[in-house]
Amino acid sequence: MKDDNFLREMNARHLWHPMGHPGEAQKNAPKIIKGAEGVEIIDIDGHRAVDAVGGLWCVNLGYSNDAVKQAIADQLWELPYYSAFAGTSNPAAIEASYAVQEFFAEDGMSRVFFTSGGSDSVDTALRMARQYHRLRGEPTRTKFLSLKKGYHGTHWGGASVNGNNRFRITYEPLLPGCFHLPSPYTYRNPFDETDPAKLAEKIAAAMVDEIEFQDPSTIAAFIMEPIQGAGGVIVPDASFMKHMRDVCDRYGILLISDEVICGFGRTGDWTGARHWGVKPDMMTIAKGITSGYFPVGGVLLSDKVADVFESSGPEGSIWTGYTYSAHPVGAAAVTACLSETVRLDTKTNAAARGTQLYDGVCKLAEKYDIIGDVRGGHGLMTGIELVSDRAAKTPMDAETMKRVHQTSYEAGAMVRLGAHNILMSPPLTISEGEVNRIIAALDKGFAAA
Ligand SMILES: Cc1ncc(COP(=O)(O)O)c(C=O)c1O
Repeated sequence: MKDDNFLREMNARHLWHPMGHPGEAQKNAPKIIKGAEGVEIIDIDGHRAVDAVGGLWCVNLGYSNDAVKQAIADQLWELPYYSAFAGTSNPAAIEASYAVQEFFAEDGMSRVFFTSGGSDSVDTALRMARQYHRLRGEPTRTKFLSLKKGYHGTHWGGASVNGNNRFRITYEPLLPGCFHLPSPYTYRNPFDETDPAKLAEKIAAAMVDEIEFQDPSTIAAFIMEPIQGAGGVIVPDASFMKHMRDVCDRYGILLISDEVICGFGRTGDWTGARHWGVKPDMMTIAKGITSGYFPVGGVLLSDKVADVFESSGPEGSIWTGYTYSAHPVGAAAVTACLSETVRLDTKTNAAARGTQLYDGVCKLAEKYDIIGDVRGGHGLMTGIELVSDRAAKTPMDAETMKRVHQTSYEAGAMVRLGAHNILMSPPLTISEGEVNRIIAALDKGFAAA
């Protein structure tokens, strides 16, 4: 490894970073995170901060899980790679598929198709939804419904169902036939509805209206996050996902639960759908499946969907997949990570620490007028929407957001900015004292706004 001077000098010179401006990164170099321990990250200057982002909503087990690291290392020596395209498999992938179906059995999922991450998973799920209807003799079902504020990755399919125009406009035109419903976002919505249960009903009615307008025979699937993450931690009413399930059932539309963030305990339950008492037809997973230690994702299928493929003729073949689908090293990470996730019962800690973080931020909202909305209270996902004028709900400017971020970091907590929102999703292994450190650092950050 080159010395620190080299790293500082070359920072962002040759590396373009996702979701940022390359010229801006050259002017204001990104923080160099050199190490991590437990739930703390350590930068090149030796500064330590509690990672309230959990890497990127993914390091659920913290940075020091030796069992997962050892499983990855061992597998590298056993079989570092082999293709899983039709005709060959590997022991690690077979074991991982068993562990995954066990973990998701209560959600009604019985099959897994491995990918390299969340965007791969979403694209694959959308393709499989179309193919499912084609196999059933309804090839006109090709359209997709989704929610505004939703985030479903950045492949063409995922970007097309994404509900945040920041990720869309630059790359338009996107996939035709994708339609967006309002988000269950009580702070701002087109119905001016602040009651979450009433808002859920209004969105369900808007969904029915859109389906009737499009014609039900043209719609393949509806995709949603059980709690919208990147869009600002938007927690719907407990009835919301059930309404969506009912409407999908009424019109023969597949419900895809995008569990890339919500899965594996983050909501305080093992899956977001389970948190709301809903059984989807398909799920998309990634991130917490390996605690971010190795890039793996997956599509999960219920018996209802799997049966149609498995009992079909040659047209049921899956003509999509990735070089790294069912990668043996990734698969070893999956098995170890699931075993650790269950052993540590991370969902229980996520529920308790999530409530603590949410309550702590609600207290800060009493102290700082710039806090317009606090969202969370369902596991370790908390969003804070900052405004420059509380009554007018004017979004906070970017410079102030950066100042809050930097001051919080210097005070000991790394948080994430999403436009004028602060987003938090710390490791699910975080302690009470570490949550208090995040709240104290935020306090300093808001004071500096
Ligand atoms: C709900 C959801 N779906 C899909 C994705 C895309 O995952 P990836 O970045 O691994 O491609 C993300 C990423 O944050 C996500 O939050």
